[in-house]
Amino acid sequence: MDIERLVKNSVKDVENYKPGKPISEVKRELGLSDVYKMASNENPLGSSPKALKALKRELKCLNRYPDSGCFYLKDKLSKILEVRPENLTIGNGSDELIALTLRAFLNHSEEVIVAKPTFLMYELYSRIEGARVKVVPMKNFKYDLDAIRQAVTEKTKIIFIANPDNPCGTYVNRVEVERFLSCLPDNVIVFHDEAYYEFMDVEDYPQLISSINRRPLIISRTFSKVYGLAGLRIGYGIASPKITEYLNKARDPFNVNSLAQAAALAALDDGGFVKKSLELNKRGREYLFAELQRLGLEFVKSWTNCIVVKIGRNAADLVNYFLKNGIIIRNMSAWGLGEYIRVTVGLEKENRKFIRLLGNYLLNSEQ
Ligand SMILES: Cc1ncc(COP(=O)(O)O)c(C=O)c1O
Repeated sequence: MDIERLVKNSVKDVENYKPGKPISEVKRELGLSDVYKMASNENPLGSSPKALKALKRELKCLNRYPDSGCFYLKDKLSKILEVRPENLTIGNGSDELIALTLRAFLNHSEEVIVAKPTFLMYELYSRIEGARVKVVPMKNFKYDLDAIRQAVTEKTKIIFIANPDNPCGTYVNRVEVERFLSCLPDNVIVFHDEAYYEFMDVEDYPQLISSINRRPLIISRTFSKVYGLAGLRIGYGIASPKITEYLNKARDPFNVNSLAQAAALAALDDGGFVKKSLELNKRGREYLFAELQRLGLEFVKSWTNCIVVKIGRNAADLVNYFLKNGIIIRNMSAWGLGEYIRVTVGLEKENRKFIRLLGNYLLNSEQ
């Protein structure tokens, strides 16, 4: 059987995405009982308590298919965001919004533009859909919107922008993004990924919802980060009714399970949990910035819940050292940055242990 001859060319050569290792895997493989995960930009505080309560109630209804139209969640989101339900697509994680955008709008061999380093799923899904992917390097770990604009050709169909970015945690501001959008031809779709939107407490962060009817634009957000629901897989897209109609045509009818819908709906009412999560993150991030500086390490000033740190030599060794000592962090080699790591801001005890191990590692490797 020659499966190689059967598989689609666009899938054959795609590299598998390597997510942060699950805690259970590290415990199992290394025989550890206590493991901290600081590798996938999750909420270290847990999940919204209101969401957990809603889940218990929803457990009684698992014999039924979920609401394909996510009526209640769209109704609530539309009031919060001041849009119409017809502007909303609910996805199995905001990852699915990326996939749906490509599935609905990209013809084979059309071009997609992504930055580097940025969220890896843009390139991966684009390649699976048979896109030509143009990669535009960042400038000082920030999106270079001028260079992206210059990379646009008549073949360009979709531009992905993570704002703020993962892994860098940097953002492009309202003036920069609006100028960028105004210079683009209107046959190019901009996917503005706002997975870390809630972390942005700055005045000049772009507010693009008012632009969704003016140009082809899809804004995506998620319940995976500040609401602590990554395991349920739920996110949403905001776009014009026409774009939304096509995104919905491209999705599976039951793409968002009923537990995820119930939890997300309740989480939107849990302002207290969001506030606590953001405060914890801010404190932890400030602590890590100060300690990294004390250790003499270069890092990217992040606005989100992760920090890219330069180790200055192959970081694989350090990532293994951390694993053996019960902390999962991310090696940046998948982004072509072998000398860097990415760490997610954790609980206070996790941040302290991270810094202690890092200090020990640096001291031992100097000797
Ligand atoms: C920039 C960005 N976009 C999208 C996602 C996907 O999030 P989810 O599919 O969990 O909503 C992530 C996850 O880390 C991310 O960092």
